[in-house]
Amino acid sequence: MCGIIGISSSKPVVNNIISSLKKLEYRGYDSAGIATFSDKFIDEVKCEGRVGKLEKIVSKKSLKGIVGIGHVRWATHGVPNEINAHPHSSDRVSVVHNGIIENSTILKKILEKKGYQFKSQTDTEVITILLTENLKNNKLLVAVQKTLEKLHGSYALAILCKDNPDLIVGARRGSPLAVGYGHNENYLGSDSYALKSMTNKISYLDDGDICILKKDSAEFYNSKGKKINKKILTMSETEDNYDKGDFKTFMQKEIFEQPNSVKSCINEYVDHLRDDINIYNFPWDITKIDSVVLIGCGTAYHACMVAKYWIEELTSLEVAIDIASEFRYKRNKFKNNCIYIFVSQSGETADTFAALELCKKNKMKTLSVVNVVESSIARNSNFVLPIHCGAEICVASTKAFLGQMLVLYVLILKISSLRGDIKKKDYEAKIKLLKKLPEAIRNTLSTESEMEEISDIFSEAKGSMFLGRGYSYPIAMEGALKLKELCYVHAEGYPAGEMKHGPLALIESGMPVVIIAPRDKYYEKTLSNMQEVIARGAKVLFISNKSKDEISSDNVWKKIEVEKTSDELLPFLLTIPLQLLAFYAAKNKGYDIDKPRNLAKSVTVE
Ligand code: AGP
Ligand code: GLU
Repeated sequence: MCGIIGISSSKPVVNNIISSLKKLEYRGYDSAGIATFSDKFIDEVKCEGRVGKLEKIVSKKSLKGIVGIGHVRWATHGVPNEINAHPHSSDRVSVVHNGIIENSTILKKILEKKGYQFKSQTDTEVITILLTENLKNNKLLVAVQKTLEKLHGSYALAILCKDNPDLIVGARRGSPLAVGYGHNENYLGSDSYALKSMTNKISYLDDGDICILKKDSAEFYNSKGKKINKKILTMSETEDNYDKGDFKTFMQKEIFEQPNSVKSCINEYVDHLRDDINIYNFPWDITKIDSVVLIGCGTAYHACMVAKYWIEELTSLEVAIDIASEFRYKRNKFKNNCIYIFVSQSGETADTFAALELCKKNKMKTLSVVNVVESSIARNSNFVLPIHCGAEICVASTKAFLGQMLVLYVLILKISSLRGDIKKKDYEAKIKLLKKLPEAIRNTLSTESEMEEISDIFSEAKGSMFLGRGYSYPIAMEGALKLKELCYVHAEGYPAGEMKHGPLALIESGMPVVIIAPRDKYYEKTLSNMQEVIARGAKVLFISNKSKDEISSDNVWKKIEVEKTSDELLPFLLTIPLQLLAFYAAKNKGYDIDKPRNLAKSVTVE
């Protein structure tokens, strides 16, 4: 992952680099660093930890450079410490890198034989040393090209070069990089968000591109070394709301935003007067499609899992789902009458983007469901459906998950109606019910105090299980993922009916188990599975939906009821108490909820 910033200006750049790095912290936060040119020297400051710490160190020095680069790291090669933090510098160049150099071990050995010594454990330092070697006999651009030719893997780079103190070299393959244009200064950044406070004029580098950036010019070269022009896009000037408001964490704020974020998304896609869905401009004839493949990672993959059940229930289409990191390397049977749907909050996830590129290479029909509409995945898909939930800052995804499910649900309903798989009156009835969803979510948020009360059992547990059937199975997976990533407690999400095939052996006295059993067609079956874990000592938190019938709660430790809605819409409501559970379980432990250890918001490495 990692975030990169570079500024070439006519005035000192250190403050703008630090503020951009703060915006890029969602991409990595284990260490940070900065390098600027002044008086023919490169001043470098690096530290383990957050940008706030770097800022304090920098404030005690006087970095006056007018050209500089900065980095926030999410370590892939080498522990997070000061030495491994970027930039990685030699006597000639200073490099910041996002990505992985897969042949770094071999290149390192070759360079060591030539007498070079490496200071860090990173793969990145290989780029520094190789470029230093190539600069011995080549001019800058050729030396960069020769260096990049030798690298396997992925990179976005910003490079300072002592012999050319007025410029920054940018290059990209596999990891994102944008160029921003200002007044008498220009910028390089991992995304447009990092540059937004400085400019709204942006170009994106494509794979293989190199750029030479000066304060008053930007030259671009493609992978064949040909000089090229870039389209300059104008971004919207409105800054998203990155304020926590009355909340102490972004996570809690984002959980409580869900009634509104779902409502805005419904307003974008639902024609309230005609009870229809406003998706008209499909680039393909939907009646000629016979299958759908949904691809994503993590939480986005769980949204794909839920969508698979909806597609099976509501359409005559064949459906498959895949985790992007698996899809991109297996032997796929690409089909012309298939839509490949890519689900990603950030729109920058490297595995999902690579899966999209693979489909594009095979001339497939691609559709993306994203939150960030300027992202690489959105820009490269045939058709984009945004989730309109506003910026999601907390690393753990909450409102984006509901947004992803919502867009997939309206898309599936629309496809189903266009293909004649659903009767008009049923279609309209489903849309009417969908319009009530924001209110049902709002009411379900009242489970907060109960979830807070019971969360300490999960904070202290050695392990836990989340079980469900049908739509509740992916929701169980999502609940377990939230607990793992926020509270660092082992949690398994499992289909309730699979327990007896092995995982039941894990159950021991006092182990917390979440049973997600709404009153759908699986209800009684799930209750039996619940009794099986209770019989082996599990402490069961039972989550169902409100109904006039009393729930069967024999030997249940705690029960929680979400609002009433249709079976199809229950995944939206059942998710809410699980988000709150993970939030409070992590809060009890005093963990950094918005930035859990070892993770990053945007995963731009594989
Ligand atoms: C969610 O809580 C996770 N942090 C993670 O699984 C995330 O959903 C995944 O990395 C995919 O991200 P994307 O939606 O930006 O592609
Ligand atoms: N591979 C580099 C490192 O470990 C960059 C990591 C990244 O982009 O996530 O420092």
